[in-house]
Amino acid sequence: MPGAMRLGVAGRFREFLVMLLAGAALVIAPLASGTAQADEFANGRRIVEHWCSQCHAQTGAETNPDRAPTFEQIASRDGRDLRYLRGFLNIDHFPMTTYRLFDHEKDDVAAFIHSLRRR
Ligand code: HEC
Repeated sequence: MPGAMRLGVAGRFREFLVMLLAGAALVIAPLASGTAQADEFANGRRIVEHWCSQCHAQTGAETNPDRAPTFEQIASRDGRDLRYLRGFLNIDHFPMTTYRLFDHEKDDVAAFIHSLRRR
């Protein structure tokens, strides 16, 4: 039956496509996670430049006592791991009380600040 034949070929072709896609996913996934990390960092930096730089410098030792500690100083404090930083972004923070970030932005900001930790 030619009909059955065609189905068989189509089925095998579909199987081939699935395997191809699975293979591609295996290759692409690690690459994508590398880029995702770079994106997180760049995005986190963009957000803090926009919303936080009025009070926080990113790196270095801030000498002006009227300003907030730098993110590098904060990240280097004891216990400021990714979890702490991410949690901190969920609570209001005096003297700045009204910033609102999306959850994915908070993830990126926490990752960025954490990456400034001095080893
Ligand atoms: C109006 C000023 C101001 C702005 C704007 C501001 N902060 Fe702060 N922030 C402070 C001050 C002051 C402190 C110091 C409190 C301290 O020493 O822990 C602080 C502390 C922090 C800490 C340290 C908390 C800890 O427990 O170590 C983090 C993290 C932080 N800010 C993140 C941010 C982020 C992210 C933004 C931008 C979305 C931001 N801040 C914007 C004033 C500000």
